[in-house]
Amino acid sequence: MAQTSAYGIRSVELAVPDVEATKAFYEAQWGLKEVARENGTLYMRATGKDHHVLTLHEAPRIKFLAINLGAKTRADVDALNAHAKALGTTILAAPHELPAIAGGGYGFSLESPEGQRINIVAGVAEHADHEQDASKPERLSHVVLNAAKYDEQIAFYRDVLGFRSADTTDFMDFLRCCEDHHSVAVARANGASMNHMAYELPNMEGLMKGAGRMKQSGFDIGWGVGRHGPGDNVFSYFIEPNGFVTEYTTGMQQVKDDNYEWHGADYWATAFTRPCRWGMAMTMADGFRDAMKGKLIDEKNQRCEDVIAKGLAKGLKSAAE
Ligand SMILES: [Fe+2]
Repeated sequence: MAQTSAYGIRSVELAVPDVEATKAFYEAQWGLKEVARENGTLYMRATGKDHHVLTLHEAPRIKFLAINLGAKTRADVDALNAHAKALGTTILAAPHELPAIAGGGYGFSLESPEGQRINIVAGVAEHADHEQDASKPERLSHVVLNAAKYDEQIAFYRDVLGFRSADTTDFMDFLRCCEDHHSVAVARANGASMNHMAYELPNMEGLMKGAGRMKQSGFDIGWGVGRHGPGDNVFSYFIEPNGFVTEYTTGMQQVKDDNYEWHGADYWATAFTRPCRWGMAMTMADGFRDAMKGKLIDEKNQRCEDVIAKGLAKGLKSAAE
């Protein structure tokens, strides 16, 4: 019988005004590589097997667009689609063959309670080669979403997509759909946005080298290096050129069976693991928390709109003269 649960996170999709500048950052500093492009869309891979882990779409406004989650088989895609439909979820695209430029495969798209697009994909092409550079991301690890409709988002991931709650703190729910402790987490917030995306590096040595490369390139660590409580993963956070928060992580706790013991807010509040198990990364850089709330992106988009509005006003004025 086909499974009605997503399995693993594959990639994220972002809208950015300058695809080339963004690509240059992700190649030279972050450690991804262009794998395909068509029109204004560019696909970037990590060193691992996933066809791509990041899709950049050229658009006037900076925006988090979508999460791509894996399904194990095409039959699972159909089963998940039927399950989502039966629950009354908004289906944005029925199951269909996916474009070859994006690695092909089969998938459908649905909408989260906060209007975010989730693509469920199976059978996407995989790379056989594996660059042996531990300072570069091997795959996408997880995405954390800021949510105003907190309970609805969690219910959506649990009931529609088959995620299970891994752990819950007083402001975040960690949700798992594969052996990773979490592939998605939902944070309490005033509005919907992406809190951060995280890329898995093979080991600590690689993470430190990658973080060093970022520092040497002028991208200071916003938070870290530290080790999280829930998930037990090592973290090092940065702000990329568009204002998105992006994380190098390694050592995510692996849940091999269903015996994992969930812990709630009371446990984590007293577990002496926050905000860093090592007691190393106890504070964030100035303004970093705002970046995680998506405020940098709001400011950049606002500045862009102000420039356009001023240009329009100027054009109207000279047309009237
Ligand atoms: Fe994270």
